[in-house]
Amino acid sequence: MIGFETVIYEKKENIAHVTLNRPQVLNAYSVQMRDDLYDVLSAVKVDDEVRVVVFRGAGEKAFCAGADLTEFLTAPSVVKARRIRAVRDLWGLFLSIPQPLIAALHGYVLGSGLEIALFCDLRIASDDAVFGLPEVGLGILPGAGGTQTLPRVMGLSRSLDMLLTGRRLSGDEAHRFGLVNRVVPRDELFPTVESIAHRIASFDPGAVRKAKEAVLKGSDLSLQNGLDLEKRLVSELAVIRGTMTATVAGKE
Ligand code: COA
Repeated sequence: MIGFETVIYEKKENIAHVTLNRPQVLNAYSVQMRDDLYDVLSAVKVDDEVRVVVFRGAGEKAFCAGADLTEFLTAPSVVKARRIRAVRDLWGLFLSIPQPLIAALHGYVLGSGLEIALFCDLRIASDDAVFGLPEVGLGILPGAGGTQTLPRVMGLSRSLDMLLTGRRLSGDEAHRFGLVNRVVPRDELFPTVESIAHRIASFDPGAVRKAKEAVLKGSDLSLQNGLDLEKRLVSELAVIRGTMTATVAGKE
């Protein structure tokens, strides 16, 4: 187990566990947390032993209640913030992680907390989860990709409803709207996520990574370009395996 100031990092049986660890302030996302997550994800990205990454929040009340509001008044200048972001682009790093990312979501999942979850490939929520993007009501915009990632996951109309009105969603609503993959009772959240993580970790890691790449990269392409991408990834996987049987369709 490696303890950062705001994050706990543990690696067990090919699964990396990342816990947002500021429970006294509902795991609010701070500059220090950005730096800690950046270091953790940089290590995960190049660690072939890690097959799946699970994110969760410490404490009973929240996955993450959004950006640390106490840092608002101490924020660096726009120019400085832009420079830091160019060097430590956490959201770009999230997008570039080849292993599947799973978010275990309980309690408040607000602002940057929801945006972190949106960079994950699977979102599993407990029935006490509350989702929201309060930024516009605070006179700012979601700055961690939320205006782009939310509509891709949940569609334009429901995303605009959340963004423009500050509407909060319950776990059940989030499930109905496709924001989360599953909703389970609170005491089943972590066992459920562990079991999903173990299942993915038991699969061929090359196939898992290529499947993730195909879906994520393909979603920004035309269908024809997506099919070309799939064909290339099938070949690459076959080369890795030293065989031409990466998919049944690839046997032609
Ligand atoms: N930044 C900094 N501190 C935060 C925080 C945030 N985003 N969210 C909660 N906290 C702190 C509270 O100030 C409080 O600290 P204190 O015990 O020193 O007073 C502690 O976490 C517990 O929160 P509290 O407000 O007492 O819990 P609650 O159950 O009454 O309410 C929320 C929970 C999430 C509804 C409420 O904390 C809230 O609205 N937080 C801000 C959400 C937000 O706007 N996020 C920013 C998005 S950009």
